[in-house]
Amino acid sequence: MIALGCDHGGYELKQEIIKYLEEKKIPYKDFGCDSTQSVDYPIYARKVGRAIQSGECEKGILICGTGIGISIAANKMKGIRAALCTDCFSAEATRQHNDANILALGGRVVGPGLAVKIVDTFLHTEFSHDERHQRRINLIESDE
Ligand code: RB5
Repeated sequence: MIALGCDHGGYELKQEIIKYLEEKKIPYKDFGCDSTQSVDYPIYARKVGRAIQSGECEKGILICGTGIGISIAANKMKGIRAALCTDCFSAEATRQHNDANILALGGRVVGPGLAVKIVDTFLHTEFSHDERHQRRINLIESDE
């Protein structure tokens, strides 16, 4: 299950991503927002982050105008590794190396065609499980 969340700056791109997920029959849960009316992105980052922390959803996609604010908010949550990507190379690498569990996108930065390819890459790339990558993730997750 993929958790989706956005603010007003990401709403239109989220609709494009929903079309892709429905075409590919990929199950998702939309945590809002539901229009282009101004809202506060940390609220949606938290809803999606909690869905991943609880195990309800396996991965998430968060979208704000730049992807920056919503990824900063998500990355404050334990166990959340949100990667802001503007290209497919980074989307692939962040799954393989960082085991990122949230993809962040900028609705005012990437067009829908590229965004859908980034999403497709992110959702279909596995973590490498290489010892060095796992060790680095453990260091990120440790409190020291
Ligand atoms: C909202 O205007 C904008 O600040 C937000 O979508 C995002 O880009 C924040 O990082």
